[in-house]
Amino acid sequence: MKFFLDTADVNDIRELMPTGLVDGVTTNPSLIAKSGGDIRQVIQEICDMVDGPVSAEVTALDYDGMIKEAESFLPMGDNITIKVPLTPEGLRACKTLSDRGVMVNVTLCFSPGQALLAAKAGAAFISPFLGRLDDIGHDGMDLIGQIAEIYNNYPNFTTEILAASIRHPLHVIDAARIGADVVTLPPKVLHQLYKHPLTDKGIDMFMADWKSTGQSIL
Ligand code: E4P
Repeated sequence: MKFFLDTADVNDIRELMPTGLVDGVTTNPSLIAKSGGDIRQVIQEICDMVDGPVSAEVTALDYDGMIKEAESFLPMGDNITIKVPLTPEGLRACKTLSDRGVMVNVTLCFSPGQALLAAKAGAAFISPFLGRLDDIGHDGMDLIGQIAEIYNNYPNFTTEILAASIRHPLHVIDAARIGADVVTLPPKVLHQLYKHPLTDKGIDMFMADWKSTGQSIL
């Protein structure tokens, strides 16, 4: 399973890159707003820092506008991935861009039918939003399962399932169990994945016993 970071905070990305766990980054207009940075500078900085796919989301809602914005992002790096919304215009832009060999991430997916359309439009990634479905009392994980079932029936679909809108570590674990190809994690959730109280307690015990020996390894 690939791990993307769901953030436009370049400091968070810089801090987590040395873990070797970061396979890519996703951004969206809200994350850019939260970062307080200029979108072009932020995306360029992330593309330079990360080897894997970096999703930059278009904000135009019409096909021509989306293509123009996408073209302005493309020179930023071979790893740039254009993020388009799951609308008729967005899927038309997805088809045009993917036919040109550009990676496209289709975002705001809330149904298996939408995911089927994105795969037919040649999306590199489909982003089902788990947390936002859970927020309205639906089971976001069911959606991932349904998409996986559909995609597995058609080996010619190359679209990867990118579990998005992740709120907590259990989302990551369940997405991995159900077969999502990628999960995009807020940095906080990646930090939470490391943690277990028995790990902390075990380290404390080992350190206390080690100290009592008076030894040192080096
Ligand atoms: C990622 O591609 C999405 O834009 C993001 O995961 C949305 O998360 P949110 O529902 O927490 O805003």
